[in-house]
Amino acid sequence: MTHVFLVGAGPGDPDLLTVKALRLLQSAEVVLYDSLVGPAILALANPAAALIDVGKRCGRASTAQARICALLVAKARTGRRVVRLKGGDPMIFGRATEEMEALRHAGIGFEIVPGITAASTAAAMLELSLTQRGIARSLHFVTGHGMQGGLPEHDWVALARAGGTLAIYMGARTLSGLAAHFIEAGMAPDMPALAVENAGLPHARLWRSGLAGLPSQLAAAAPQGPVLILIGHAMGTARAADTVQAALMAE
Ligand SMILES: C[S@@+](CC[C@H](N)C(=O)[O-])C[C@H]1O[C@@H](n2cnc3c(N)ncnc32)[C@H](O)[C@@H]1O
Repeated sequence: MTHVFLVGAGPGDPDLLTVKALRLLQSAEVVLYDSLVGPAILALANPAAALIDVGKRCGRASTAQARICALLVAKARTGRRVVRLKGGDPMIFGRATEEMEALRHAGIGFEIVPGITAASTAAAMLELSLTQRGIARSLHFVTGHGMQGGLPEHDWVALARAGGTLAIYMGARTLSGLAAHFIEAGMAPDMPALAVENAGLPHARLWRSGLAGLPSQLAAAAPQGPVLILIGHAMGTARAADTVQAALMAE
């Protein structure tokens, strides 16, 4: 019998929850949620449910993840209906593997409910297709954050040569190193690049530049919210930054 639902909450706008995610939230008895899940989503949960902030931020030590897994198993064992709510899609940089393994190991059934990931949200906001015929033939979901907190060990040349769109998660702090590696690997310094903070939310912010210039722009702005970086030829077709900003302010 399924006790636990690993549910994607999307970018934070309640309108972008799936109907299934909403139904599960409304009938949950326990909700374990991440720091990316905002109050507007939590307000939709069953008022009688215990809401537990497990506050995992990207790149935290694995012991924090181990504690979350243990708590998830403990709550499921009480027999209550448990929803594990994650920002975006649980299967994209969501540490779902660890939680599924812990549940399997404990003999607890679970179900995954997909959510809208940050890259899809940003693409919608920018009116920008991440794949474009003849311009971007592939889309790569890339982490900007290595296991030890620094740069990840990517095959930089392969990513640069692929010529597709790079959607970089958790890359705001490491952006200058990422950009340097991509340029060294052969990517043009003026490759169109974007950074979007809080995509899909009314207080979203956008920076747009060539790859070489984006790190200093972002560093100067010091964003506090989650930031997605998009790099690739297709980014040259995004709406102009001031148009997006104006549209956001009008919302
Ligand atoms: C641990 S990952 C979780 C990704 C999530 N599972 C998803 O599918 O979007 C956290 C990273 O996702 C990106 N992210 C999540 N929500 C975002 C948003 N609303 N705007 C911009 N980036 C976001 C940022 O790169 C952030 O550092």
